[in-house]
Amino acid sequence: MKALVLSGGMGLRLRPFSHSTPKQLIPLANKPVLVHVVEALKSLDVTEIGIVVGDRPEKIAEALGDGSELGVRLTYIQQDAPRGLAHCVAISRDFLGDDDFVMYLGDNLLTEGVVEMAREFRAHRPAAQLVVHQVADPREFGVAEVDRTGRVLRLVEKPENPVSDLALVGVYFFTPVIHQAVAAVEASTRGELEITDAIQWLVASGADVQARTYTGYWKDAGRIEDVLACNRELLDRLKPAVDGEVDAESELIGTVVVEAGARIVRSRITGPAVVGAGALIEGSSIGPHTSIGEDCLLREAQLSDTIVLDRATVQGVRSIRGSVIGREASITSADADASHRLIVGDHARVEVAA
Ligand code: DAU
Repeated sequence: MKALVLSGGMGLRLRPFSHSTPKQLIPLANKPVLVHVVEALKSLDVTEIGIVVGDRPEKIAEALGDGSELGVRLTYIQQDAPRGLAHCVAISRDFLGDDDFVMYLGDNLLTEGVVEMAREFRAHRPAAQLVVHQVADPREFGVAEVDRTGRVLRLVEKPENPVSDLALVGVYFFTPVIHQAVAAVEASTRGELEITDAIQWLVASGADVQARTYTGYWKDAGRIEDVLACNRELLDRLKPAVDGEVDAESELIGTVVVEAGARIVRSRITGPAVVGAGALIEGSSIGPHTSIGEDCLLREAQLSDTIVLDRATVQGVRSIRGSVIGREASITSADADASHRLIVGDHARVEVAA
């Protein structure tokens, strides 16, 4: 079985980060979402992986290379514009050939994995096997109507009045018959070739389409709030490891990772938290649920429930929480006149204490 990972799209809801980096590279517990996805595929013994890329493909290639460091073989497939998930399948035909494949959306996090579902798909090979998850409000997802045996009766993309509470998770197992379905569907009202419509075409043609319910943690990390929630979830599963330096005046509480070359000086780190390689934390209080990227400088800072990306600086600022601080961003305290001085990029969001 091969895999197709979708890492194109616009990432509008993740601006301003998606201005400079594909949204699938936002780090969760200091690892890009895409790396979590590749690791999940490896756990299914799938190592031949195609990645559909859109804007700034070089950033993804820089982060993942040819996949050898992750123990997989990556083939990059360029999409000219985000024309829909079924379009991604169509442009990947040469890579996929006539093999079965698992399609995985590059911004989806499933902490429990889908090993058992992959085993079942390989054993029975229905035309398609979907992963569904019970949600409170299914209107922003593909929605599946499923009978008691797990057979899919109907699928609708983002329905206004959902007939079930089973949302399509961004993981799909396909046999090559999906290519016929993809060729048969037309663009939806939002102008995209929808994979949901292609699978519904299979259902309508009488093909065996199955759904299996996933009950673990799942999130489509499409918004900043979701990214922070995924970060918390992954940090909660962290194993402690201190490879950097922690001085005698510092204190590590709970599960903390200090990567090699990081230095903690006169600071308190409350886990779960991770401090990236080469970072310097001095006179600060960090965590819980905070991840600090590589080569960051945090001095006299206080942060919790926050993601700080590589090479950012925070100096003399307290009470930062629920925040994401971009690469090489700098946050420092103002001069004595206590006014705020902000040089904020396009589509940034700043909430200051009143
Ligand atoms: O997250 C699960 C949902 O994903 C499903 O419930 C829906 O049925 C499915 O259509 C999809 O909905 P979204 O509207 O959330 O999809 P989004 O546009 O966010 O794209 C999902 C991933 O695929 C994302 O990593 C970007 C990538 N993508 C998207 C499009 C439209 C591409 O690589 N190319 C594309 O043309």
